Amino acid sequence: MSLFDSSDKYGLVSRALHWLMALGFVWMFFTAALHYFADETPITDALWPTHPVMGFTVFCLAILRVVWAVVNMSRRPPSLSLLSGLGHSVLYALMLVIPALALLRNYGADRPFSYLGISLMAPTGQKTQWMIDLAGLLHGELGWTMLALVLGHIGMVVVHKKSSSTTDVLPRML
Ligand code: HEM
Ligand code: HEM
Repeated sequence: MSLFDSSDKYGLVSRALHWLMALGFVWMFFTAALHYFADETPITDALWPTHPVMGFTVFCLAILRVVWAVVNMSRRPPSLSLLSGLGHSVLYALMLVIPALALLRNYGADRPFSYLGISLMAPTGQKTQWMIDLAGLLHGELGWTMLALVLGHIGMVVVHKKSSSTTDVLPRML
């Protein structure tokens, strides 16, 4: 069982990152849905504070994943089509941009941010409005767009599995 990717299967590191992050995204979309549909309810009040923490976790894992994808670029399983390659690239971009926008807003709003007890942002007494506005405009919208793409991604995996005329890609990731 190789750590590195090969032309017919993703390696242990890529698979671990893919499935761990998939779980992380389930949590992100679950908490986002609570925020949207059930704001100011006890369950949302209890779980919403985990949204930034898990968001920062998937952000760090996404940076690692991009580095690992670049290291493995020449030996990864080939994309089935231009569209699937493009779809995966867009997912990568969103995994980085969505949390980065939220962190930028946090910084611009001069709010403290700590992760596992480590302080990463301390108030400076100065707000930066464009940082707040940019994430206000895009963070949630891009988040929901990503959910739609992830559902499409899962749908395509099922289509490839069921259709006899295309390659079943699921074993590459299991
Ligand atoms: C990839 C990671 C992330 C995803 C997929 C994501 C997704 C979302 C989505 C879909 C919403 C909209 C909820 C609504 O309409 O009520 C949202 C809202 C929010 N998120 Fe995230 N988020 C991520 C990371 C983060 C991080 C790291 C932070 C904090 C630093 C954060 C802070 C917020 C806040 C404050 C809101 C409410 C304001 C707004 O709608 O923009 N998120 N998130
Ligand atoms: C039940 C959920 C999921 C299933 C069954 C699934 C399945 C797969 C499979 C079979 C592949 C290999 C495709 C190929 O080589 O052509 C793949 C790759 C990929 N998936 Fe998923 N996936 C799921 C969730 C997610 C989520 C939540 C994300 C993140 C946003 C994601 C992002 C990616 C990306 C970027 C790739 C390209 C390979 C890589 O860099 O890891 N997937 N997925």
